[in-house]
Amino acid sequence: MGFFDETFDLMAPNDRRVEGVAKVTGAGKYAAEYKVDGLCHAVLVGSTIAAGTIKNINVDNAKQVSGILDIVTHLNKPLVPGLADEAKIKEARLGLAIFHTDKIFFKGQPIAMVIAETLEDATYAASLITAEYEKTDAHVDFDAALKKVPLTPAGKERGNIETLNKATQTVEAEYNIKAEVHNPMEMHATIAEWKADDKLKLFDKNQGVNSVQRTFAKLFNIPTDNIEVISEFVGGGFGSGLRVWPHALACIMAAKQVKRPVKLMLTRPQMFYSVGYRPAAWQKIKLGANSDGKFVGIHHQAKNGTSVYENFNEGITRVTRLIYHFDNLKTEAATVPLNLSTPTWMRGPGDCTGDFAIESAIDELSYKLNMDPVALRMKNLALDKHPDNGMPWSTNYINECIEKGAQMIGWKDRKPAHSQTIDGDWSIGYGMAVGAWNAGRGNASAGIQMQKDGAIIVQTAMTDIGTGTGVSMQNIAHEQTGISKSKINIELGNSNLPPAPSQGGSNGLSSIGGAVVAAVSALKLKLAGYAAGQNEAYQNAAPADILLSDSGISLKTPNEQFISYAALWEKNNLDVLEVEASSGPGAERQKYAFCSSAAHFCKLRVNRKTGKVKLERMVTVADGGKIISEKAAANQMSGAAVGGIGMALMEEQQTDERLGTLVGNDFAGYHFPVNSDAPIIEVAFVNKPDPNINPQGSKGLGEVGIIGTAAAIANAIYNATGKRLRDLPITPDKVL
Ligand code: MOS
Repeated sequence: MGFFDETFDLMAPNDRRVEGVAKVTGAGKYAAEYKVDGLCHAVLVGSTIAAGTIKNINVDNAKQVSGILDIVTHLNKPLVPGLADEAKIKEARLGLAIFHTDKIFFKGQPIAMVIAETLEDATYAASLITAEYEKTDAHVDFDAALKKVPLTPAGKERGNIETLNKATQTVEAEYNIKAEVHNPMEMHATIAEWKADDKLKLFDKNQGVNSVQRTFAKLFNIPTDNIEVISEFVGGGFGSGLRVWPHALACIMAAKQVKRPVKLMLTRPQMFYSVGYRPAAWQKIKLGANSDGKFVGIHHQAKNGTSVYENFNEGITRVTRLIYHFDNLKTEAATVPLNLSTPTWMRGPGDCTGDFAIESAIDELSYKLNMDPVALRMKNLALDKHPDNGMPWSTNYINECIEKGAQMIGWKDRKPAHSQTIDGDWSIGYGMAVGAWNAGRGNASAGIQMQKDGAIIVQTAMTDIGTGTGVSMQNIAHEQTGISKSKINIELGNSNLPPAPSQGGSNGLSSIGGAVVAAVSALKLKLAGYAAGQNEAYQNAAPADILLSDSGISLKTPNEQFISYAALWEKNNLDVLEVEASSGPGAERQKYAFCSSAAHFCKLRVNRKTGKVKLERMVTVADGGKIISEKAAANQMSGAAVGGIGMALMEEQQTDERLGTLVGNDFAGYHFPVNSDAPIIEVAFVNKPDPNINPQGSKGLGEVGIIGTAAAIANAIYNATGKRLRDLPITPDKVL
């Protein structure tokens, strides 16, 4: 693949993203950028009401536009076998059965699709399509709707929550978070081409090609292997690509309808209601501690928004059972159906929402107890075992994250009482919070192809959504083989390559790392097999005793028995040597619990006249096991921390209850942090391998960067001003 270009010798040249140069020079292709012969364009038409039934769709004017190939509605769509009837629709779990229903569930729901020779003609024709509806009541206001939905238990109750009434100090408060939208730079897009009646090729933006492949195999009732999905470069996902969305199906239907390859790319406004978002959330916490700071218990209630056609429970109270010891614990949850599209996982899903409430309440409690918030947390961390399932942690260094972060930010300079440091119109404060995430691992496969000159290509179907999967695979392959990085190329994001899980939930590297290690072992054994033909010392050699280099194979014995690859290739008449191996979780999961964690610290100033919050410093220290690529890992953490700034101070998907509309669904109306809103994020790692999670000892990092960030900022605002703000985003009007 050859991503390397020696003229781009950036910092840390030994830890460069394998795809970095291709991405920044534009050589790397995103889904919408592939050239396909005979390509035409599809544009979706959204409903103008938020709830009801389609009575009539008028496509006559649109049909007059030059270059129109076809217009698809629920009346004339090509039937998707997996959506043939109500039972099948349910089974498909696609959420919205696009063009297979006349029901409208949210504003913007696709009701028609124009397919034309050019994007311009398709867009113009789409603007001419009108529909008549029978309207029904629609509700998009989460705050109003949440009161109608009762809470139900979320997980087992522990101890007796009434004990909280005997605590020396308690905090009881409600927390509200507005919906947030992922909005990766690259908008979702699909190019679909039917190579035969039952053979499909897709260029698609997603976080898991195998999952896309399986979904469409089921929907079209064709063998999985008949579908090729390519997602080689992904310009950010944040969770929005973890499931298959209706627009991708629409594109495939369009290609079927016109018997030509079709491209469908969502517009930025469509991104706000087509590929999920972090749902709005309401929470109530009651937290108590004794005078020595020992937690007595917690009662955590949470509700999150969902759509009326699908139930998405974010799992907000999961994190309540992860970080601290609570002898008495009760968690309850509910989902609140709204006439909006279905939300989905977004960076630190559930946990970063729940963690904001818990970590805010703990901070509040620390002031009541007259205790340092760092000391209060240290006293209550569940460092020995998973507090819910009781299994011992394989490793958990959250305490070291806290200690290191406190030292880096200069926590000792923080004034324990609020509003103590004033600089003109500005009040200065410090805040901190922690976060954790159950560290997972899935079954993954990797392949290696070796050439006569010792160059290898390491392959997997896993996508790299910007997290650094590629460079991490290269680093692991280099460490395992000893072959120079310049001779290790990486291929990923293609369903023809060895299968792997989707990249999400901080599972990517944790899963694929073991597969790379296994593939290297397979390569060593295969090479040793050929070498044994020339030198019997290689017979029955174990992978650990086999050494590879840029030029050949040798043994870890006093006498190295070196044989060059060239000699092996010639002697055995080899071309490309290929191996493939799989690796996944095993018995260790019955013995240990696994978590990643992070501590977030910030120093900020609040303008007392304007309410502006200016972050001066942000420190984030994570336990992600062994760090495989420091640059990519630090990048994950700092990117997530900036996401946390957005969550804390800016991001808010507003809705209009009267019209059922999203308000400000573009980059002018939806505020998120830009560079001037964020300080340089100071990132550090504990960097101790977890000996049990996988062969490389790394734990996932994607989520913990954002879990706790918003609370750290809100807590610092309190330290600066004495204002306890429990509703996100904390915009200037709330600060004043
Ligand atoms: Mo993410 S929400 O793990 O893509």
